[in-house]
Amino acid sequence: MMNIPLMRVSFTEEDLKAVQEVLESGMLVQGKQVLKLEDTFAKYAGSKNAIAVSNGTASLHLMLLANQIGPGDEVIIPALSYVATANVVEIVGAKPVFVDTKADTFNIDISQIEEKISPKTKAIMPVNEFGLCADLEEIQAICKKHDLILLEDSACALGAKLNDQHSGTFGQSGSFSFHPRKAITSGEGGMLITDDDDLANNFRTLRNHGIDPKSNSFAQAGLNYRMTDFQAALLSNQFKRFDQQLEEKQKLAQIYLKEINSPKIRLPKEETGKLHSWQTFHVVLDESIDRAQMIQKLKAKGIGSNYGAQCIPEVEFYKNKYKTDCKKEFPNALRAFEHGLALPLFSGLKSEEISYIAAEINKF
Ligand SMILES: Cc1ncc(COP(=O)(O)O)c(C=O)c1O
Repeated sequence: MMNIPLMRVSFTEEDLKAVQEVLESGMLVQGKQVLKLEDTFAKYAGSKNAIAVSNGTASLHLMLLANQIGPGDEVIIPALSYVATANVVEIVGAKPVFVDTKADTFNIDISQIEEKISPKTKAIMPVNEFGLCADLEEIQAICKKHDLILLEDSACALGAKLNDQHSGTFGQSGSFSFHPRKAITSGEGGMLITDDDDLANNFRTLRNHGIDPKSNSFAQAGLNYRMTDFQAALLSNQFKRFDQQLEEKQKLAQIYLKEINSPKIRLPKEETGKLHSWQTFHVVLDESIDRAQMIQKLKAKGIGSNYGAQCIPEVEFYKNKYKTDCKKEFPNALRAFEHGLALPLFSGLKSEEISYIAAEINKF
């Protein structure tokens, strides 16, 4: 009997040793391991600054706080994402303005952005969904034309590129997550990147109780969004094999793309010039398939699967607050939410296992 989970996190002896060394040193909070990780991350992404934080939601929150986005402001975001993308906008008192996503790339539909821009719009925050960059160059142009801030929610897109440029570097700042469903993980963890040195200093100040690292004084009100040093050591060690794992996942995704051939399963689309990091392999099922039943049937065959992302304006809080007719306004996001299915894809998965999953999927 096969036993293939949706995601398997695996650590090496060396990873564990790196954590143990920090624990034994007794220096647990943000310190030199965080600095080392930030340096590695900034170089990898090609950004001037990287600022480690406690999770990907904290990093999104800081992007909004640092830009003083709050009551009376609007932020344009895709309707399909993890709910955190909208929650941070709500939490600072601003309004999330949703835009439908494309049916086969799951990224924000750029043709619908400009009609959502109002005098209150402060920023556009696209999500690089499932590890594929949104149409970031076009979004850059829209932001420039309307004098808006571009903030990238790149939680799922470490390793993803557009025209050889790393995700998260197209906007004023980019945000990443190290949740266990992500490419490298510390359980909880996040990262901000930016080329703007003053903004980087502000992020560092905000994440550490408002203590400005330049003056070492309590310069403003802040939060505790720091990462621990043992989490940073764990991440730095995983970084060493990240490129190799990315390549491995890209090869595995190609097997799915080649071998799933049921007309009832809509495959994710790759796009020219975009390097997909395949954080999630997400298909959309024909409406004739009962997804809950399919998840159970796959489970009985030893295959883990689950829905992939939310049509945020359709979930309880947003539905009650904004009362949007998602079927009319966000048909693609709603379809991906109601009929989407994430399939196993992680480093260490065998090609035979993917073929087995593809064969089982084709039976539907
Ligand atoms: C698109 C997106 N944004 C933000 C987050 C929040 O990250 P975290 O779980 O690290 O807070 C996630 C996911 O987990 C996500 O998928």
